[in-house]
Amino acid sequence: MAVTVTELTPTTGVQITGLSGARLVDKAVAEEALAALDRRGVVIYREADVSDDDLVSFTRLLGQVVPLPNGGHPTHPEIQRITRDPSKSPLAAYREGTFHWHIDGTTSQVPDKATVLTARQISDDGDGDTEFANTYAAYEALSDAEKRELEGLRVEHSFAASQLLVTPDPSPKERAAWDRNPAREHPLVWTRASGRKSLLIGATAGEVVGRPDLGRTFLDGLLERATRPEFTLRHRWRQGDLVIWDNTGMLHRALPYGKASSRLMHRTSVSGEEAVA
Ligand code: SIN
Repeated sequence: MAVTVTELTPTTGVQITGLSGARLVDKAVAEEALAALDRRGVVIYREADVSDDDLVSFTRLLGQVVPLPNGGHPTHPEIQRITRDPSKSPLAAYREGTFHWHIDGTTSQVPDKATVLTARQISDDGDGDTEFANTYAAYEALSDAEKRELEGLRVEHSFAASQLLVTPDPSPKERAAWDRNPAREHPLVWTRASGRKSLLIGATAGEVVGRPDLGRTFLDGLLERATRPEFTLRHRWRQGDLVIWDNTGMLHRALPYGKASSRLMHRTSVSGEEAVA
């Protein structure tokens, strides 16, 4: 089958058809994926239909695979099962948190470089698309005065901030459990060694440090701007699709799907290579 490559929006996304199964587990394919990821943030292989072994092998070609102790996969500790079914994942109860825009691993000094997600079972009710928002493009679209205003601001990221979006009125026990996950401060604007800049915002961003005058509405307003249609890409899943995204620069969220949904994704993560600076 011929391979086709299509750019999806002016700033974001590449869709590739005609590459599936073990054909993906190839050094040249992975190198092209990494180059496309750098340019376009999201790479979509339509109906790739990879096995779990091939998913892990392909992820290894992209970088160091993050081990996931609570992934819920019976044979592959590198694979996390994304589902709302508690019999398939010990983290099923937390999936509602993924319905809010977020970046994975923001409470680490070095957030994951990339995420790979493949659709094992699509939703039976048509819900559960995944959306991406390009925070490099959102930063670029700010005026020079706005860029100057953001430079130097620092934000506290925490698991608790993201959980408050799902459970705004937690019990003391819930709150204490969330707070056992250490928070971390990061600059609001992430400047890479290459000079490229993006906004580090999303569900885990609780407050701007030392600036109570800016408040929560400031961060909400910035998120609202960064997720406007011109910066976003919506992916409607087909069975077997495999999507990779640059976790450092793309906010992502799942559009809500029900507790009884058949939706089941297998996810791997590539370790970060650059600390936030
Ligand atoms: C995630 O937030 O990593 C999962 C996204 C999805 O289920 O679409």
